[in-house]
Amino acid sequence: MKSVNKLTSAEAEKELDRLAKEIARHDRAYHGEDAPDISDADYDALRRRNADIEERFPLLVRADSPSHRVGAKASAKFAKIMHRKPMLSLDNAFSDEDVAEFLGRVRRFLGLKEEDEVAVTAEPKIDGLSASLRYENGVLVQGATRGDGQEGEDIAANLRTISDIPLRLKGKPPAVLEVRGEVYMTHKAFAALNKRQEKDGKPTYANPRNSAAGSVRQLDPSITASRALNFFAYAWGDISELPAKTHNGMLEKFESYGLPVNQLTQRCESLEQILKFYRGIESRRAKLGYDIDGVVYKVDRLDLQERLGFVSRSPRWATAHKFLAELAETVLEDIEIQVGRTGKLAPVARLKPVTVGGVVVSNASLHNEDEIVRKDVRIGDSVVIQRAGDVIPQILRVIPEKRPKSAKPYKFPDTCPICGSHAVREVDEKTGKVDVDRRCTGGLICDAQTVERLKYFVARDGFDIEGLGGTMIELFHDKGLLKEPADIFALTDKPEKVSKVLAEHRVALSEARRAAEGKDPVKKAGKEIDREDKVVENLMAAIEKRRTIGLDRLINALGIRHVGETTARLLARRYLTLDSVLKGMTADDALEELQHIEGIGGVVAEAIHDFFDEPHNVKALGRLLDWLTVTDMAAPAQSSPVSGKTVVFTGTLEKMTRQEAKARAESLGAKVSGAVSAKTDIVVAGPGAGSKLKEAQKHGVEVMDEDAWLKLIS
Ligand code: IVH
Repeated sequence: MKSVNKLTSAEAEKELDRLAKEIARHDRAYHGEDAPDISDADYDALRRRNADIEERFPLLVRADSPSHRVGAKASAKFAKIMHRKPMLSLDNAFSDEDVAEFLGRVRRFLGLKEEDEVAVTAEPKIDGLSASLRYENGVLVQGATRGDGQEGEDIAANLRTISDIPLRLKGKPPAVLEVRGEVYMTHKAFAALNKRQEKDGKPTYANPRNSAAGSVRQLDPSITASRALNFFAYAWGDISELPAKTHNGMLEKFESYGLPVNQLTQRCESLEQILKFYRGIESRRAKLGYDIDGVVYKVDRLDLQERLGFVSRSPRWATAHKFLAELAETVLEDIEIQVGRTGKLAPVARLKPVTVGGVVVSNASLHNEDEIVRKDVRIGDSVVIQRAGDVIPQILRVIPEKRPKSAKPYKFPDTCPICGSHAVREVDEKTGKVDVDRRCTGGLICDAQTVERLKYFVARDGFDIEGLGGTMIELFHDKGLLKEPADIFALTDKPEKVSKVLAEHRVALSEARRAAEGKDPVKKAGKEIDREDKVVENLMAAIEKRRTIGLDRLINALGIRHVGETTARLLARRYLTLDSVLKGMTADDALEELQHIEGIGGVVAEAIHDFFDEPHNVKALGRLLDWLTVTDMAAPAQSSPVSGKTVVFTGTLEKMTRQEAKARAESLGAKVSGAVSAKTDIVVAGPGAGSKLKEAQKHGVEVMDEDAWLKLIS
């Protein structure tokens, strides 16, 4: 197959035509409940190629392009499994200093001294996909992907085909044991698989991780069985009793149960030992035979892990020390400014395509204006780029010796390239610091911001409207059909108009193409409209389907600055219903309330507050809500004796630091406040408590000492 970069426009058009037909055929086979005659991975590869060609030839995107439809996604066919304990991700460390800072944070949180030892277990970070295996009385009863961390997919049938995964544990495992670990493919197996794919005329995989993921998410377990996959166990979820007191001890137990554990794992007692281990692994990396992308450090003592707890989605007791990325050299052909949803002017480097670590890279991030100045990046420069895992490639530095004489310093625009408004760098009122990003001040009049907000609204983590992709949003916006989220639902009232716009767009595209090829125009709008009918019908149905939406998704889709999926979920969990969100956000103490939600910091709280403080946003939200039924968030399953209570800590705490006390209380659903009022439920008073204790007595608030508090929450 010719690489996308080498295709001529005519070849691209032909191939897009072929791909549209072929993918549609597979979709029909799939939805028609016939046995699909193609593996998920091969199907994904077809869609990926289609998307790659479209990205290079945007003018050739067909109205019936498969990218306008979410097709036969394999995930739709796996049953969902709610994780009893969430599957977490890890915080990253990129330098020795970051690792030292991690240990410092742990010590501070636990109130330990500089010289106190914090032992960690260090283990390679396997580059595969994580899975959760549930054993009941030693028998494998369930297997799931990570999914979004809360809910994964039932892939038990596939996991059972992996010979590393025991179907029955040895020894005396806990009655309930959820083992978490990584499914991966060795370099050898990966090479053999790609060779086989090539021989069969099937698309090859980009790297071992993709091939492991593609292999595990097959609807037909016999395909998974034909792929050589491996597994390492490194953590656990639900567990009936802990058979050890340290992480290292747990891994030893795992091993005794017959679970594969990485043999390079080592207990380290100091920063020096940790860094020595890291360098050792790094130097052996190429010879391991499987991909790793760093080293994970976990506080070894489980009682300390318990005390440290979590921030948002990552544990405070672990961090991933990442390896440096792979490098390549290429030429910077242009710098393009993209305007984002929040008005940020993002410089994007257009590169002469180059392969880095098996992936073709043609764009890289240039971050911001200062970065371009600092690195003195100029159009025409030869540059070194780096790519690390899933992260967007970066420009590391320029190669001054190769600079063309004509290359001039890059001048960052001070107006928005889309709406022409001034683009400014805000100054933080509190710190006096100038923001690194230049932002378009056009706000609601800036078309780029409007379009990006709408794209974000319909994206996967938001309303996830099938078939309504970026190109269509742009088109509908250009034609005056879309300006705000409510307009998307209003489309269902005007299918004829939608159909006409799509048909005209198609005709215009093909005319432009014919003109480019020097051919005469052909008018056949009538036929095109017929063709569009099916697309429009599907689109209307897809929009209609999303008129019922979960509270967390709705909040995420609003595109509030600094609010992503995680924060949206935190908000939804805190308020549970749309009504209470709206009430809470418009109350006088909204900002204070927000700041009390664990995982939401000051900047984020302010952004949320600002959003609801802006009458235009509230009105637009109102118009949107006219179309929607918003489903409540399920209340947290576990309740604690302090959930919903407001607690104040005062005086000296002897068994934990203030930070730990606050985090513990909040993780149990309590609100921790700094001041005592009639609304306070409990005051935990240590030695030296003064005015707050008096205040509590005045209001008749329950007062207890630290021991009583610990007993209450244990
Ligand atoms: S521990 C609560 N250990 O890295 C801790 N994760 O970036 C949960 N991973 O989702 C993870 N090797 O898929 C842990 N030795 C290791 C790992 C590892 C690979 C993956 C895992 C996780 C991701 C986080």
